[in-house]
Amino acid sequence: MRVLVTAASEHGSTEAIAQAIGEVLRSGGHDVRVLPPDEAGALAGLDAVVLGSAVYAGHWLEPATALATRVATELPGRPVWLFSSGPVGKPGGKLARQMGEDPAELAAVLQATHAREHKMFAGKLERGELHGLQRAALWVVRGLEGDFRDWQEIRGWAQSIAAQLSEVTAA
Ligand SMILES: Cc1cc2nc3c(=O)[nH]c(=O)nc-3n(C[C@H](O)[C@H](O)[C@H](O)COP(=O)(O)O)c2cc1C
Repeated sequence: MRVLVTAASEHGSTEAIAQAIGEVLRSGGHDVRVLPPDEAGALAGLDAVVLGSAVYAGHWLEPATALATRVATELPGRPVWLFSSGPVGKPGGKLARQMGEDPAELAAVLQATHAREHKMFAGKLERGELHGLQRAALWVVRGLEGDFRDWQEIRGWAQSIAAQLSEVTAA
């Protein structure tokens, strides 16, 4: 299966999740491209898409929503999986839970792409990497820094996608 794995990312941590998913799908025997949404190019010929975004202030990044629209119109009927990366802070903590709420665009993107699933992964936040406004938005909130990405969970999800793609191939 020819698969595009793509994620919108401000500071690279969601992009790294896309890379990890791509590696798992590749080792499952699929023909995988991992590219930022802006560089995805022509979608014709793809058999499946895994599309993700970092979440900022409750929203997906624009390149991800724009690509979702293209996927819906250019690849109707192809299997699509969605993921978001966001929650930071102590797992299960109140702030992390609030952060982990579905991005505002999710319902519309799910409806447009008929995605099989949406997965929310924990993210990574390094204060030193943020630009001024982002830092200002978070200065009141302590304890959010760190890398909370769960690579086992991410790879496990990718393995379930690889298995579903193989079923589609076999059908
Ligand atoms: C200003 C700011 C706002 C954020 N808002 C949210 C949010 O609403 N929901 C969420 O789950 N994560 C939120 N986060 C956490 C980011 O999504 C997380 O750091 C993510 O891993 C960043 O991904 P990136 O490195 O690909 O840009 C926010 C982070 C910053 C700096």
